[in-house]
Amino acid sequence: MANISIIGLGAMGQALTARFLQQGHTVTVWNRTPGKAGALIAKGAREAGSAAEAIAESEVTVMCVLDYPASTSVIDAAASALSGRALVNLTNGTPAQARATAERVATLGAAYLDGGIMATPPMIGGEHALILYSGSKPAFDAHATLLEELAAANYLGTDAGLASLHDLALLSGMYGLFAGFFHATALVDSEGISACDFLKLLSSWMTAMMGELPGYATKIDSGKHGVNVVSNLGMQAASLENILTATREQGVATDLLDPLLELFRKRAGAGFGDEDISGVFELIRRKG
Ligand SMILES: NC(=O)c1ccc[n+]([C@@H]2O[C@H](COP(=O)([O-])OP(=O)(O)OC[C@H]3O[C@@H](n4cnc5c(N)ncnc54)[C@H](OP(=O)(O)O)[C@@H]3O)[C@@H](O)[C@H]2O)c1
Repeated sequence: MANISIIGLGAMGQALTARFLQQGHTVTVWNRTPGKAGALIAKGAREAGSAAEAIAESEVTVMCVLDYPASTSVIDAAASALSGRALVNLTNGTPAQARATAERVATLGAAYLDGGIMATPPMIGGEHALILYSGSKPAFDAHATLLEELAAANYLGTDAGLASLHDLALLSGMYGLFAGFFHATALVDSEGISACDFLKLLSSWMTAMMGELPGYATKIDSGKHGVNVVSNLGMQAASLENILTATREQGVATDLLDPLLELFRKRAGAGFGDEDISGVFELIRRKG
């Protein structure tokens, strides 16, 4: 059993603490606003009077607060306590924020792991929860068993920004999926078809289309978008034009798909209409 400190008792911090307590660990907690630890104290948690006091109680501290300005203010206030400790920051932020925090924490003599939580609070400790980590490899190796109690732990590398990069990329994929769902459902809703009824059809179609992604990924990695083309961009641009025309005719907003049609047109207009739609990737990837 380990001594663990948790900073931040929002919805996620509460779930992380409850999980560690359930596993029998000694958990010290601190939250900016007092009075949020009651239920956790009843389960055995100890409440510290400051972030520095909480950090001093344990070899490893897990921080999960709103954003990086919040985590930076905690680190500033507790800087003297960090030397020789490990800080696992599960606060959501950008790769640049994670890298800057890693540099700052290193100057304070602590090991730093950044993490991206791919789960909601009720999922913590369950089989579908995943947390991505990057930063100090020795810290990950030392605490991996403990961290696995929260969620499957996927270590991505020593660059502290990698967990955030992958976290935000996975969320981007999720929002693309949700955007497709919203648009498609609005289209059938215009004729009184319910979202729940339509979803049966849509989800099996989307699952089938997931099968296209390995082929697109291969083309993106090779930069060869003109091989094995069965549904070329020119055809798909015409099809997307039809979708948007029908969308307008049905009185539905086109906002979610307009930018995609713009990219299809641009790529086809540049002479790549016979290639695959994976070529659109070339318009959005980082140049140089
Ligand atoms: N909830 C989810 O589904 C979920 C999923 C994945 C990742 N996350 C990430 O987990 C982190 C926490 O999320 P949450 O759901 O727990 O949020 P939350 O319920 O809104 O709690 C926010 C926490 O941050 C603290 N905080 C805010 N500003 C602070 C500051 N300046 N200094 C110190 N503490 C400060 C709050 O303390 P006070 O009580 O004093 O306000 C509270 O403990 C976020 O980065 C979020 O993106 C959440």
